[in-house]
Amino acid sequence: MADTKKLFIKTYGCQMNVYDSERMAETLGAQGYVQTDTADDADMILLNTCHIREKAAEKIYSELGKFRGLKTAKPGLKIGVAGCVAQAEGAEIIRRQPMVDLVVGPQSYHKLPQMEARVQSGKRALDTEFPEEDKFDHLASRPKAKRGPTAFLTVQEGCDKFCAFCVVPYTRGAEVSRPAERVMAEAADLVARGVREITLLGQNVNAYHGHAGGLAGLIWQLSEIDQLERIRFTTSHPNDMDDALIEAHGTCDKLMPYLHLPVQSGSDRILKAMNRKHTRESYFALVDRIRSARPDLLLSGDFIVGFPGETDQDFQDTLDLVRRVGYGQAYSFKYSARPGTPAAERAEVPPEVASARLQELQALLTEQQRAAQADMVGREVKVLFEKKGRREGQLIGKSEYLHAVHAVAPDDMIGQVITVQILKDMTNSLKGQVLSAPARPRA
Ligand code: SAH
Ligand code: SF4
Ligand code: F3S
Repeated sequence: MADTKKLFIKTYGCQMNVYDSERMAETLGAQGYVQTDTADDADMILLNTCHIREKAAEKIYSELGKFRGLKTAKPGLKIGVAGCVAQAEGAEIIRRQPMVDLVVGPQSYHKLPQMEARVQSGKRALDTEFPEEDKFDHLASRPKAKRGPTAFLTVQEGCDKFCAFCVVPYTRGAEVSRPAERVMAEAADLVARGVREITLLGQNVNAYHGHAGGLAGLIWQLSEIDQLERIRFTTSHPNDMDDALIEAHGTCDKLMPYLHLPVQSGSDRILKAMNRKHTRESYFALVDRIRSARPDLLLSGDFIVGFPGETDQDFQDTLDLVRRVGYGQAYSFKYSARPGTPAAERAEVPPEVASARLQELQALLTEQQRAAQADMVGREVKVLFEKKGRREGQLIGKSEYLHAVHAVAPDDMIGQVITVQILKDMTNSLKGQVLSAPARPRA
């Protein structure tokens, strides 16, 4: 086709951006764009950006600088910035990088077709509004092509929590839930295309209120989709883990025993200064309740070290919390002051102190992570095979605990949940041996 244009999208930040990039590619696909995996032959480059830490945001400007040569060589090339940097910086992006043609905030992706047309006529396009309507309802309907066995599905956006360090409430706006019927329709469509595992996404996914029964209600309804084998959700806030959701972890077979439950700090003083609205004791009590519902659940968390005012004792409290809870997976970050957030006004911990704390915390978390993975050796797990592995004859997939597992298996096991015995811990993945025949015939 003579008028096929090529689109290169680069995605930064969280899984919600991964989902949005997919939807933007589909929307621009309806405008005649096909995706390419290199910037060199693109007609449009779209950076889907993250503003969570200073480094993430600065990276965008240096990335944009790299496209200067391409733009000079191909003046018709259009460059767009989407995502949270677009929302936070708006017109400033065009001021700093005049070769940018398009700036679109996370709640305006349904406007992309008009914006693309405007850009093609040689003008610039900027939209960082927070419209009333659900952007996903106005995006092009999803294509029917087959796809891999796992998918993300955004059910909730935005955040009303206003943790003192965080830009998300400003870049994504207020908490909004998509109605359950729309989520169900999208899920059914994904399953018809071959998806067997859906991860429900939201900045505060467990604050979801698009279903009368909350997130648990949605999960139970999704679990009735016959060929949907697995359900996950992320990211949860401790204060929104209600009884029904905790109970579902014990009783809903399709809900996987893995939970990302960020706590950020183990010090009550710092939790208060962070405006987290929970204490270390309330977090311990919550973890106990979740573990009594589902004893083998693997817990994951996020931590910030060097928050303004954090003393050595506060940091010791964080280490102590980590030791008491035990995480199978975790992400830890050095505090980064973000313009416009309350914490940005406060005096910072010296950078070398923060770095040393981060190292110490990461060493402990890595140790726990390694131990949790090594503990899988000898056990039988259920693996949803996703794709071919690097070695001939090998497939790779995820266990219910989200560990990567590879095993010798026939290609037609891709998309199936198979019982696998874990033989060896390979650090980045687990090596296993297929035990079961396929659980159900392939659709
Ligand atoms: N909504 C999610 C997390 C969103 S951001 C939640 O509340 O858990 C992902 C993680 O980035 C956060 O959990 C936090 O650990 C980290 N983060 C957010 N703002 C940060 C900042 N200013 N500096 C360092 N880390 C930050
Ligand atoms: Fe940010 Fe806190 Fe909202 Fe999470 S809960 S997105 S850390 S403000
Ligand atoms: Fe980053 Fe925005 Fe996600 S700031 S972490 S891309 S919500």
